[in-house]
Amino acid sequence: MNISAVILAAGQGTRMRSNLPKVLHLLLGRPMAWYALEAVRQVTGTMPVMVIGHGADEVRHRLGEQAEYVLQEPQLGTGHAVMQAEPVLRGKSDLVLVTYADMPLVRAETLGRLVAVAETQPGPISMLTVMAEDARGFGRILREANGQVSGIVEEAQATAEQLKIQELNPGVYCFRSDWLWEALRRIPLSPKGEYYLTDLVGMAVAEGRPVQTLCVEEPGEMIGINTRIHLAEAEALLRQRINREWMLAGVTMIEPASTYIEPGVRLGQDSILWPDTYLRGNTQIGEGCVIGPNTIIRDTKVGDRCTLLESVLEGAVLEDDVDMGPYCHLRKGAHLSKGVHMGNFGEVKNSTLGPGAKMGHFSYLGDATVGAEVNIGAGTITCNYDGIHKYPTEIGEGAFIGSDTMLVAPVKIGEGAKTGAGAVVTKDIPPHSLAVGVPARVIKKLEK
Ligand code: UD1
Ligand code: CA
Repeated sequence: MNISAVILAAGQGTRMRSNLPKVLHLLLGRPMAWYALEAVRQVTGTMPVMVIGHGADEVRHRLGEQAEYVLQEPQLGTGHAVMQAEPVLRGKSDLVLVTYADMPLVRAETLGRLVAVAETQPGPISMLTVMAEDARGFGRILREANGQVSGIVEEAQATAEQLKIQELNPGVYCFRSDWLWEALRRIPLSPKGEYYLTDLVGMAVAEGRPVQTLCVEEPGEMIGINTRIHLAEAEALLRQRINREWMLAGVTMIEPASTYIEPGVRLGQDSILWPDTYLRGNTQIGEGCVIGPNTIIRDTKVGDRCTLLESVLEGAVLEDDVDMGPYCHLRKGAHLSKGVHMGNFGEVKNSTLGPGAKMGHFSYLGDATVGAEVNIGAGTITCNYDGIHKYPTEIGEGAFIGSDTMLVAPVKIGEGAKTGAGAVVTKDIPPHSLAVGVPARVIKKLEK
């Protein structure tokens, strides 16, 4: 059957106490709504319709092409919200999956199971339910003595007896579309002046049409976010989920609770993560690496067998067998070739270090191209910025840069050349020659 999806996101989220629309608050670096969009997309394979209202422009702008948007203005309840999707979806699918943008823990597999119920059972409504002692304001599921669902009662309208019911409505449904669009129009206005989507359940039952339920095994999946406390709880659960998956895939975590891995990250087998490691954005780590402790890596590709100790990396590429740290900083455009060694307090920006290059202590390389097997002495600095422009530095293969050399760019150091300690290099140095002093002068030709 064809399935389309509606994600509700028009509510204000007052309890977040925020200028940012609720569904844009970040969880593991991605807007809350991303998780619902992703789960739904995996199940339906079609672009979901997102119902927006509060902060509509910001939501649309931030989430972009991931959804088709319909505006709900004013917001007259969940039933009214789904109604807004009718002009876009009517006649397009057999089933309509409805979920909320503020439930980031709902798994695609769970939605898939719900859709399977809707596909195989005759009733117009299939819905998830959850058993929980803490009702968190959820509507209660009402059942007949024979177990058939008879309706949903909102917490505000529930009797003392009904409040004790532990089977709750998380708000995730799969409807038969022909029935849905027609029934939505018949929802009565509630005493609060809203159209409740939940009223459809009682309506179907009154028409003698069955309502199918699927009880979710893990209540944590149904956490809806209303406050920043919920946000933190949800993020902790998401992190746990991601970490478990990586451990099952062969990654060792010394302390999973302090290991932070965002959803876009990829890790190779037999890599070891020490505590307080943050892997962010589009980061890829190869096999057999040892990362951390206290390491932050963002949008960086790391090859196999690399060791990164107490370092910060962003927008960098590391080939295999790179050994780095403690306390290194790689910035955008840093490329460390196979077998590079970088010792403590090094910074590299927009520079390539050739295979086997070594940079042991306290150095800065910016806008530099460094050949294979070059040795960068302690305290070497590329003076790449004159206050207005940035200039390149080139260091040829096998060169030996003496400690505390200042390379005043633009400048080229030839292959196999050497600089003396404390040299201030303002002019190119030819291959295989030794330059010393301030400003540096060639004093000797070297053996090849
Ligand atoms: C709703 C359900 C309740 C369920 C609970 C689960 C109804 C009437 N009640 O209650 O049974 O247990 O969710 O969280 O459906 N929204 C809109 N437009 C609106 C109103 C809401 O888009 O006019 C969106 C909100 O942004 C939110 C979702 O729908 O994502 C749920 O709205 P909310 O007001 O939180 O519903 P509840 O009253 O909690
Ligand atoms: Ca709610």
